[in-house]
Amino acid sequence: MIKKLIGTIALSLTCAVSVAAEGGYALEKAPVRINDMASLQNGAKLFVNYCLGCHSAKSLRYNRLTDIGLTEEQIKRNLLFTGEGVGDLMEIAMRKEDATKWFGTAPPDVSVIARAKSTNLGPSGVDYIYTFLRTFYRDASRPMGWDNLVFPSVGMPHALWQLQGERTMERTTVAQVELDDGSTQWQRTVARYDAQGFAEVNTETLQGYSGSASDKVVFTPADPKASAQFDSQVADLANFLGWMAEPVQLERKRLGVWVLLFLFLFFGVAWRLNAVYWKDVK
Ligand code: HEC
Repeated sequence: MIKKLIGTIALSLTCAVSVAAEGGYALEKAPVRINDMASLQNGAKLFVNYCLGCHSAKSLRYNRLTDIGLTEEQIKRNLLFTGEGVGDLMEIAMRKEDATKWFGTAPPDVSVIARAKSTNLGPSGVDYIYTFLRTFYRDASRPMGWDNLVFPSVGMPHALWQLQGERTMERTTVAQVELDDGSTQWQRTVARYDAQGFAEVNTETLQGYSGSASDKVVFTPADPKASAQFDSQVADLANFLGWMAEPVQLERKRLGVWVLLFLFLFFGVAWRLNAVYWKDVK
């Protein structure tokens, strides 16, 4: 029984590792700010201003935002623009058919996107969103003028580009390619994207290369300070989407501390009781 259990656990661990290995661009760890009300409030503000135009969040009513420390008055004054009431769901006016026409695919409802994108033992959905929103790059050859490292050929434009500021990108990939005669050859490709998204691509053959395939990306922001501030803003936004996917988590964690404390105290009591019960038997 125990052996079987260990076998199952080992199996699920190996699965998790192989998925992570083939999962494309490595996700970065988002700063953990789930107990930081100022961060959640900032995330809510960013979400309403920059995302709610395209994405609904239909599992959430505006007045639920009182859970992250906003008053109904603040919600009304700062987050409602088009005559919704505080009891309304976070819906959008865009029609699905129009959205599909404009973006090739309709923007998904993001109520539980952080949960949908989380992996069992690997990166969380918050890590996914944090990395996704920070890896848009200008690519003039794409219909929207943008592409994304985490989600190649994504239909979404970089909604936060003004906050991030201009960047150039250099991507170096080393890969084995198959030639017409069936033989293989290692090649290094360096693609430099300027701030407008025009790419200069150079490919060279690597003779006698014995390393492995790799993919390295370096961003150079025009304004490093603005870019660092942007990272922090995105951390707040990802944090908010993480909260939205499970609003009760704040309550659950608050309760959890008390439950653990209770178990700890109870352990002490049970242990002493046990000693008392057995005192005369021995
Ligand atoms: C102009 C419309 C538009 C705006 C604004 C927008 N999105 Fe999107 N978003 C889309 C579309 C369209 C897709 C679907 C992309 C696809 O499947 O190719 C998408 C997909 C996503 C996804 C899912 C990605 C995945 O891997 O499946 C996330 C997460 C997301 N958006 C978050 C955001 C956040 C956060 C904001 C606010 C900063 C935002 N979006 C603003 C149009 C938009």
